[in-house]
Amino acid sequence: MKAAVIGSGAWGTALAIRLCQNGHHVTMWTYEKDLIPEMERTRHNPRLPSAALPEGIQISGDYACARGCKLVVIASPSFPLRSVCRGVAPYIDSDAVVVSVTKGLEQGTHLRMSQVVAQETGKDVVVLTGPSHAEEVSVGIPTGCLSASENQDLAEFVQDAFMADNFRIYTSPDPIGAELAAALKNVIALCAGITDGLGFGDNTKAMLMTRGLTETARLGVALGAQKETFAGLAGVGDLIVTCTSMHSRNRRAGILIGQGKDPQEAMKEVGAVVEGYYAARSAYELGKAQGIDMPITEAAYKVLYEGANVQDAVKGLLSRQRKAEHEDAGWL
Ligand SMILES: NC(=O)c1ccc[n+]([C@@H]2O[C@H](COP(=O)([O-])OP(=O)(O)OC[C@H]3O[C@@H](n4cnc5c(N)ncnc54)[C@H](O)[C@@H]3O)[C@@H](O)[C@H]2O)c1
Repeated sequence: MKAAVIGSGAWGTALAIRLCQNGHHVTMWTYEKDLIPEMERTRHNPRLPSAALPEGIQISGDYACARGCKLVVIASPSFPLRSVCRGVAPYIDSDAVVVSVTKGLEQGTHLRMSQVVAQETGKDVVVLTGPSHAEEVSVGIPTGCLSASENQDLAEFVQDAFMADNFRIYTSPDPIGAELAAALKNVIALCAGITDGLGFGDNTKAMLMTRGLTETARLGVALGAQKETFAGLAGVGDLIVTCTSMHSRNRRAGILIGQGKDPQEAMKEVGAVVEGYYAARSAYELGKAQGIDMPITEAAYKVLYEGANVQDAVKGLLSRQRKAEHEDAGWL
């Protein structure tokens, strides 16, 4: 089938390669029009240097490339997502299936990414997410992801479009959980990086990941997610990959902050989109609005946005009141 991938960052590129390898006719739209001649000549995208672009992938700087496509994958970072969707919307066919793969929350509105895409395109949007570094997917390293939609037919359509021996797609009826888990884990990954930068060990990271998952699931459930989604690929799966891998920009930014760099400097040094930075503000504000206790997210927010000292933030977390692991724990 004819497919368009709107966005040529590392992830859009990896997904375009995957779709092309599955026999689809793919056009990848790029914001960086000046890079098109180089990408066409070298068949490499500097955003994902490790992977070759198959000849079958067309590259375009024109949103009209979505016209006539049965599948339109929106692979923009979160900050320009609304404007990208507004640009491409007039060219999306009425029978096209639209997929959102962006991990984040819209600044100010705190909307999930698929909600933004749905508002701008008028479509029922499928969420594709999971533990999936572009660097690994693009070279065929076995990976599992989630195709989430309340509409089973749409979730299965997207499953079929991407599924391959080395790219297993599971379906889920919980797009809210899938997207919230994906967005909120980036905040925890940034904190995991900070613990590495401070020189802490595996024990610290395991505690942070587990307690981080607990508080993000708490917020997710308050916002309508299914708790089980946080124990699946989009939740704990993505948390593991993002908190432990050097491919993770969120973790890399956190390491630099833990080593004493200012957050802005750290993001500049990473040089690619650090979604956890933006998600920290939304998560913090959502947690406050919902009355949910989110100590790790709150500490991250204070370090990232209020100039709080990292050491003090850690001390604050470690000196919290003692408590039971589960709020509903009952003794026999
Ligand atoms: N990289 C991964 O492995 C991966 C995996 C899964 C999901 N994601 C998610 O995919 C999304 C995109 O991430 P990425 O890794 O592809 O990004 P990236 O950092 O590799 O690239 C950013 C892209 O944004 C484009 N861009 C910059 N300013 C823009 C603007 N004003 N309007 C439109 N486009 C603009 C750039 O041209 C570039 O193509 C993120 O939400 C990320 O969390 C990434």
